[in-house]
Amino acid sequence: MRTAAHVLRLEPYTPGEQPASKRVVKLNTNENPYPPSPKCAKVMKDFDLDRLRRYPDPVFGALRAEIAALAGTTPDRVFVGNGSDEILSLMARAFVEDDESIGSLDPSYSLYKTLAAIRNVKWVGAPIDSNTSLFLWTNPNAPTGEFADPKQIAAVARRYPGVTVVDEAYADFARDNCMALATAPGNRSLIVMRTLSKSYSLAGLRVGYCVGPKDLIEALYKVKDSYNVDAVAQAVALAAVKDQRWMRANVRKVVKTRTAFTKALARRGWDVLPSEANFVFARPPQGAAAADVFKYLKSRQIFVRYFPGPLTGDRLRITIGTDGEMKTLLDALDDRFKA
Ligand SMILES: Cc1ncc(COP(=O)(O)O)c(C=O)c1O
Repeated sequence: MRTAAHVLRLEPYTPGEQPASKRVVKLNTNENPYPPSPKCAKVMKDFDLDRLRRYPDPVFGALRAEIAALAGTTPDRVFVGNGSDEILSLMARAFVEDDESIGSLDPSYSLYKTLAAIRNVKWVGAPIDSNTSLFLWTNPNAPTGEFADPKQIAAVARRYPGVTVVDEAYADFARDNCMALATAPGNRSLIVMRTLSKSYSLAGLRVGYCVGPKDLIEALYKVKDSYNVDAVAQAVALAAVKDQRWMRANVRKVVKTRTAFTKALARRGWDVLPSEANFVFARPPQGAAAADVFKYLKSRQIFVRYFPGPLTGDRLRITIGTDGEMKTLLDALDDRFKA
């Protein structure tokens, strides 16, 4: 028995740190600072443990129907995964041949590159390359927060010969999204993917979904594990998706804090990219290296994200938390820069 050569060579994806202490200010993995809907709490509390003797619904019928209604489409155009990360991995399995490649924006969600390496195919950075067979277009993009107009995405996707996936992990925080492109009757090649990890405050539950043409969605069902979304996750996710009002209210709070925090950083000399997500990507004032500010904040128990490298290494990605958390961070910066 041996490890495959491409796995030996593989550089694994590094997730953001999950410190054990609850006393830290955690602004490093774009989690939501507000709790999930109380309807989710009720489902958890009332969940009949006896249901766990049985396997869960392999095709998550109730959840799929609710998502379809929300997206304005039919359940046969909806797929649900154990987080959108699982869906990405299934897409690499279903839509890419061994001698093909996967493309994405650059910089973007760094897992895409790792997924290509796991699948043992090439990864190609932007601009969109027609020789790739799967293009992952993150909108709003991460870690930049930048938003691309759905019209632009539609125009590019129309010319692209492969499958375009618009990864809309952060779309609820943005002014618009591409769902109408995914549900359009004539759509043959575009999939929109969402997650419950950010706007619905359910990163720990592990539920993501995608909507697209029937044949592509069918392909994902073919390659998935039999029971990829557990029974508790299906029940809690259903309650979350039904409570749009709760999610929207939390999103509004995050967006309001984002606006205020962006101004507060700009006043302190930071260069902040315009963000439509629940984080900002910001360059410290002249003379301060992002890596040093990252370390300093960590020493103050404030976790943000630093991505080394030529495209990202001069900035920090800072998740939008509560107003109180952002104030703690700004106070810490003031201590450092005014000292
Ligand atoms: C762009 C993007 N896509 C997908 C994900 C993964 O989300 P999930 O928690 O649903 O696996 C993330 C998580 O940070 C992300 O930033």
